[in-house]
Amino acid sequence: MVTGMRGDRARSELLGTRFADVRWVPETGSTNRDLLELAAAGEPAGVVLVADHQTAGRGRLDRSWHAPPEGSLLFSVLFRPTTPVSDAHLLSTAVGVSAAEACRMVADVAPGLKWPNDLVVTGSGSGSASGPARKLSGILAESTVKDGVLDAVVVGLGLNVNWPTAASGELPPELADIATALNHEAGHAVDREELLIVLLQRLEHWCCVPAGELMDRARSLSATIGSRVRVDLGSEQIVGLATEITDSGSLVVEVDDGGSREVVVGDVVHLWPEALA
Ligand code: BTN
Repeated sequence: MVTGMRGDRARSELLGTRFADVRWVPETGSTNRDLLELAAAGEPAGVVLVADHQTAGRGRLDRSWHAPPEGSLLFSVLFRPTTPVSDAHLLSTAVGVSAAEACRMVADVAPGLKWPNDLVVTGSGSGSASGPARKLSGILAESTVKDGVLDAVVVGLGLNVNWPTAASGELPPELADIATALNHEAGHAVDREELLIVLLQRLEHWCCVPAGELMDRARSLSATIGSRVRVDLGSEQIVGLATEITDSGSLVVEVDDGGSREVVVGDVVHLWPEALA
């Protein structure tokens, strides 16, 4: 049987959009790192780099990102925005919203957005609406600035798609407790290329709408607004009720100790079951 090159279907179905230049490799260190290098070498906006496996995947806050080979959708996309640095958060928001919508459209799984841009599923994996939020996907945006203006923004997404079960012993136990995958939520395997195509089609849409409309969509998908949260700010922790995400992407928390805080960067934990109290 003759099979096409990895990503052929994506390239063909995305023709005419800004994301048709899909480059799919079996393995690399980090798609974010590679795409930042390609950006420095002058590659244009819209390049999408996908890997079946990463050996040095990077996560937020200097963490690493692990995924079983061929079990996740791992890709980065290159933007060359003409907007101010302060608007860079809109790109990762657009990717997060598009990913949430693609999960719904392709796998009938409806994740929420955990601030800033994680996708989480609340429930047991059998459709129940209660239980701690488990992570389905994470996003890492990295940018380069030249002469004070944004030169390139690379937004990378890791989405757990077809993972082994915890019982198989192929998953580190610490991941099994806090993470989930689309196949576990949907009850069947999910086609990664189909997911990529739909995600990039949604991204084509969200890249063209006014910022306020995108942020309204992000707020409507938010699993954080209305939750009790603990936010690690590095130098201190705050606990309270998350009430809003501003148009500039900050999280507003009504702190238990009194007053309201606007968080620009931090690590959020949804407190459960207190969130229901
Ligand atoms: C997070 O910490 O939640 C963000 C994880 C982002 C992982 C993705 S996988 C594809 C891209 N390449 C990387 O090295 N990281 C991002």
